[in-house]
Amino acid sequence: MPIEVAPLDAALGARITGIDLSRPLSDTEFASVHAAWLDHQVLIFPDQNMDDEDQVRFSQLFGDLPDKAVHSKGTKSGQQLHKSVMLVTNIREDGEVIGSLPDGEMHFHTDGAYERDPYRYTMLYAMEVPREGGDTMFANMYRAYETLPEELKERLDGVEAEQGFYTGVDVSDEMKQALRIDGYDGKAVHPVFIRHEETGRTAIYVNRLLTRRIIGCSDDESRELLSRLFDHSEQSDMVYQHKWRPGDFVAWDNRCTNHARTDFSGGQRRLLRRTTVQGVKPEPALSAVGA
Ligand code: SIN
Repeated sequence: MPIEVAPLDAALGARITGIDLSRPLSDTEFASVHAAWLDHQVLIFPDQNMDDEDQVRFSQLFGDLPDKAVHSKGTKSGQQLHKSVMLVTNIREDGEVIGSLPDGEMHFHTDGAYERDPYRYTMLYAMEVPREGGDTMFANMYRAYETLPEELKERLDGVEAEQGFYTGVDVSDEMKQALRIDGYDGKAVHPVFIRHEETGRTAIYVNRLLTRRIIGCSDDESRELLSRLFDHSEQSDMVYQHKWRPGDFVAWDNRCTNHARTDFSGGQRRLLRRTTVQGVKPEPALSAVGA
């Protein structure tokens, strides 16, 4: 059965069918998936039946995987996990959560921006999902840049921002507490506008969960600029909201998307398997000023 790529009726994303990710991909399948990813930023593969090794094999086609599930709290007890796999789950055993990013809402962010070399891709495979909530939302950060008022594009041209591990300017103490990992305090500085290393397109690279401040201006101005960027890029016409079903495999490009999670009840189990692909330090966008 040939691969079918059906763009979503949304700001970004495509549904990919006619492919079985529990098997190695042919060269043609790989080329189709890679092209669809560059075009649509978020890929949804419904009705997959994948184990750890299948997910790792698929992920490795797109680059090196981190050596371990960095910044992950624990693993699923009684089960040997691949070293590059992380569980995103609220399930607790003996009172201890068995994975990472357990509970409730998460603001928009892009994975690993608090590192010098953030993740290029993230992929989640859904095993157990809540009846309600716990959706993942994706924002199209190319579109966010392209529709930004010219005056903001000019003001922030060539400017950098500081990113920190779940310590963005808008993060409540409660959310910081829920997401923190003892002994880890990642911090990095990246351009506000980045150039996607493959497409060459410009994307906004700040987000509500991780961005602490714009470099080179007062705290007040930094807050005001960041609020404008966040509010603009989180508008509904920039966003696709994914309602999970077990067997969904969703893969996104962190260089041109932000993602967030809607709230869900702690009484409902949520278990997803995550892999990431290592990226490189984001390059600044080519200046649009005077172009
Ligand atoms: C993540 O931010 O990597 C997790 C998103 C989710 O749990 O929906």
